[in-house]
Amino acid sequence: MESMGFAIDQMVKQLAKKGINIDPSNIDDDREKLQEQESIRFTKQLHQSERKRIFKSSLVSDPDDLKTVFDDFDTDTPELQRELLQAKKIGKDIYLGSKENYLFSGDPGRGKTMLAVSILNALNSIQSCELSCLFVSVEMFMNLEWTVYKNNNSWDKDELYKAEQCIRKCDVLVLDDLGSETTFKTGSAVDQSTKHKQEVLFRIADYRKSKANIITTNNTTNELQSMYHPKIVSRLLTRDPTHFIQFVGKDKRRS
Ligand SMILES: Nc1ncnc2c1ncn2[C@@H]1O[C@H](COP(=O)(O)OP(=O)(O)O)[C@@H](O)[C@H]1O
Ligand SMILES: [Mg+2]
Repeated sequence: MESMGFAIDQMVKQLAKKGINIDPSNIDDDREKLQEQESIRFTKQLHQSERKRIFKSSLVSDPDDLKTVFDDFDTDTPELQRELLQAKKIGKDIYLGSKENYLFSGDPGRGKTMLAVSILNALNSIQSCELSCLFVSVEMFMNLEWTVYKNNNSWDKDELYKAEQCIRKCDVLVLDDLGSETTFKTGSAVDQSTKHKQEVLFRIADYRKSKANIITTNNTTNELQSMYHPKIVSRLLTRDPTHFIQFVGKDKRRS
């Protein structure tokens, strides 16, 4: 640093001979400003690559499911228009700082996963947005948990550890298809989740306190309440009707 100071002094003297007078203390100020800008730029870059890493760690059975955006959502009925508008509003609220729970409920094939993913992609596409997003298929996560629980194999353990770290860290989490890991029956035939699954879900729910969570489910709120421990329900399920989208309409998988 001393030789840098010496070089600057020499430069200031030479410029002074040419009639250009520079105050060396300003040069130090400018250098500090440049260093500060450089460190802000570096921190932003690190943050952006961390956002990408987290989203890439999503647990999804078909990677194409992670590509959908709002524009792909057909709105040929007033119900579909309402669902799209509600999802856009939720995306905007999350962008503006909401750290609450949201619930997308309805029969299979109605576009719940599609709109939940579209919210994540909208947030990912905003340059100034710093929120990190993650998509987790509850069933895939539970299968990974179960494999580690039964086999204790170090590769799976490592995968599970990474997934849990992302679930813990991300700003916005989509928990996709909550309830499908317990049973494919609905209504009065819904079974209680196994003890192990309840414990896993409780841990996840605890990580996600005071963060934005979007939960999609084929079950009704009442069914979820009868399936899970009240502590899980109170941490993950919203009671705010404006945070809830009821999906109706036709099964798009069949049409
Ligand atoms: N309104 C829609 N416009 C276009 N495609 C849709 C619409 N709703 C659903 N789909 C498509 O139908 C399939 C099932 O949608 P998905 O979001 O997975 O349903 P859900 O999560 O409610 O079971 C997907 O391929 C999805 O892209
Ligand atoms: Mg789905």
